Amino acid sequence: MSKNAIVPGSFDPITAGHVEIVRRAAALFDRVTVAILVNAEKTGTFTPEERLQIVNASVKELEKDGIVNVDARVFYGLTVDAARECGARYIVKGLRNVSDFDYEFGMAEITRRFDGEIETVFLPSSPEFMHVSSTYVREILKYGKGDDRAFAPGTGDMVKKLYKKKSI
Ligand code: PNS
Repeated sequence: MSKNAIVPGSFDPITAGHVEIVRRAAALFDRVTVAILVNAEKTGTFTPEERLQIVNASVKELEKDGIVNVDARVFYGLTVDAARECGARYIVKGLRNVSDFDYEFGMAEITRRFDGEIETVFLPSSPEFMHVSSTYVREILKYGKGDDRAFAPGTGDMVKKLYKKKSI
């Protein structure tokens, strides 16, 4: 049986740190789906369609490096249902710090209660991505200052263009 995993998140937008986790997950599992979870009560900066477009651009970048077992989908609802829809028994999350750990440990417990067959797997973030978040990327977009290496590889221009269109 193939081992499928999802990497869930808001991805508003996907960052270099997320991509690092996806890249490592792709080496551990047969298929990895980047699951863009949309919270109906929260309007993000980027629409679900834009987030998917940006994630797909980073999936294309991974393909250039020979990583061909990654795809992306948008889901409305629970992460555990997204995993089931993907036939995935694994949910992969990156951990940057103890705040991530506190939050994700709770989420893993909720997931276990929803479906005892689905396992959460934590991957420690590499040091160069510990400060990188979607919030940080949005601040670079807003203030025009910051380290562009936070953008997911190959997505910087696209993300800036999409953001600019919103502020016009
Ligand atoms: O990128 P984020 O904001 O860290 O992602 C958080 C996300 C989307 C993975 C998390 O909020 C989530 O799983 N949302 C879907 C709703 C859900 O499954 N909730 C579980 C507890 S009820």
